[in-house]
Amino acid sequence: MDMNVFIQGIPKAELHLHIEGTLAPETLFRIAERNGIRIKFDSVDALRQAYRFDNLQSFLDIYYEGAGVLQNETDFYELTWEYLLKAKDQNIRHVEIFFDPQTHTERGIVFETVVNGIYHALSDGARNLNISFCLIMCFLRHLPESEAMETLSQALDFRDKITGVGLDSSESGHPPSKFIRVFEKARKEGFLTVAHAGEEGPAEYIWEAIKDLKVQRIDHGVRALEDKSLINELKRRQIPLTICPLSNIKLCVFKNMQEHSFKKLFDQGLCVTVNSDDPAYFGGYVVENYLALQNAFQLTRKDITQLAINSFNAAFISQDKKAIFI
Ligand code: HPA
Ligand code: ZN
Repeated sequence: MDMNVFIQGIPKAELHLHIEGTLAPETLFRIAERNGIRIKFDSVDALRQAYRFDNLQSFLDIYYEGAGVLQNETDFYELTWEYLLKAKDQNIRHVEIFFDPQTHTERGIVFETVVNGIYHALSDGARNLNISFCLIMCFLRHLPESEAMETLSQALDFRDKITGVGLDSSESGHPPSKFIRVFEKARKEGFLTVAHAGEEGPAEYIWEAIKDLKVQRIDHGVRALEDKSLINELKRRQIPLTICPLSNIKLCVFKNMQEHSFKKLFDQGLCVTVNSDDPAYFGGYVVENYLALQNAFQLTRKDITQLAINSFNAAFISQDKKAIFI
């Protein structure tokens, strides 16, 4: 059996996936047309040509623009359902999906429309595709803390549907400590917590996410290597890192895959997981991310198996459920 088939076949969980980042160009055009929205690209190919990024911000500008075609519950349902079909193809058994309500509420879309569309598709996926799920609401860190607090208030009525909160968008200049009070309230209200940190931002931001926000996982965290004591802490507490290799190359966090910090983090015994981030923009879903690492670092089947085990260990699921997969 070749490695491709092995990676494809092994049961996996995906823990770092922005649902708005699964909006394929074809779907974007179809939804835009249905909603009577004009987009500034003439064709799917022209849009795809624009998917060349210098850094996180240059990606976010296009990503937020793309998300602007999503208007009603059906749009959010279709977006999520399309992703789930892809996940099914790749033998992903459990997904933890990020969504960015502020990207939509800022445009006048009702919070409930977003949550209900995504949640309805996830529930159908659990029933019909056997993919379990949880939903994680991210705050946009480039916006003021007060707006994150307002978004958290809106989420309180949806506590049965939203498992956790996270932090995403432009990292530099927006440290986790900006959101201490929001995360404190979120924890009090029973939400689990994660945060993007150490993608473009320094190792210090990872410390802040752990100490100030008390998160259970770090999204990306690939700059942790810059601080030996941080590595020791991540290892001692087995705080998972949800790494997205193709994203990091596309956004120029590393020059090429050989220079990615993944292998050093993995070899030091950290709980590293492999994820796709925004697959429609970065050229690959979970399997392609595993394959890119396998190619760059000659990973063995034992390594791949460990990464898949890590993905369930790091998931927000019960020990009983983990035992089914591990
Ligand atoms: N980083 C920060 N914000 C994001 C990302 C990311 O990789 N993808 C979507 N929003
Ligand atoms: Zn991300």
